[in-house]
Amino acid sequence: MKTYIVGNWKMNFTVGESSIYLHKLLKRIKPAKGMQIVVAPSPVALQPLSLQTDRKKIRISAQNCWGRDFGAYTGETAIAQLKGIVDYCIIGHSERRHIFGETDKMTKEKVAACIRNGITPILCIGETESERTFGETADVLRDQIVAGLSDVSKEDLKKVIIAYEPVWAISSVKGAKLASPDDIAQSVELIRKYLKSTYGKEAEEIPILFGGSVNPSNAGAYLTIPGVNGLLIGGASLIADQFNDIIEVAKRVRA
Ligand code: 13P
Repeated sequence: MKTYIVGNWKMNFTVGESSIYLHKLLKRIKPAKGMQIVVAPSPVALQPLSLQTDRKKIRISAQNCWGRDFGAYTGETAIAQLKGIVDYCIIGHSERRHIFGETDKMTKEKVAACIRNGITPILCIGETESERTFGETADVLRDQIVAGLSDVSKEDLKKVIIAYEPVWAISSVKGAKLASPDDIAQSVELIRKYLKSTYGKEAEEIPILFGGSVNPSNAGAYLTIPGVNGLLIGGASLIADQFNDIIEVAKRVRA
């Protein structure tokens, strides 16, 4: 299975800054076999960056989309409109769920829209601090997987990526804590178990990424957790040197 290193730039960088960043990264990155590097810029930078990138080195992801292909949805972008521009789309990020009130129904529709349009959804799941404290992690992960993938057929399952991002470990969340490899291993095992119980053997092919305060110093430890197939990086992906260092760590770990 490939190793995915995905940088989620969130709502940062102007179009010009995004372009300079990509230019720097393209110059520095040496493609490695079995590794997929992806960046997810703001919506305004998607098209220029898709024209600028070398897809053999770096693929482009959207950070969100709407679940319908066209229509009266003011302010939204259909993934159908991003065909040919992006290869991936982050869906159900905790910031979408908790700041913008995205529901499981919306998440399910967005995942289905991505698959219908040939774009790989990166479905984010993860428990909050209080859900963890009350011992609800397993239920939350199961519910988010079941809901998010409920319109995905067995045949389409290999087109999906799951990103486990415990909300309490995301660097921008107040009082964020580092997730321990044991915490992550347990959750990743649960995720794989739910996927297998719903889809059977096909579930083994779904990449599971980890995200939450990943940086060049802890990336190696996170990537060696059994069942972790890559990283979804926020803060550290905003600094080209750090993102590139994480890519170098990944290359060493996977060599
Ligand atoms: P940080 O790496 O800043 O914790 O962000 C994680 C994240 O939300 C990526 O989607």
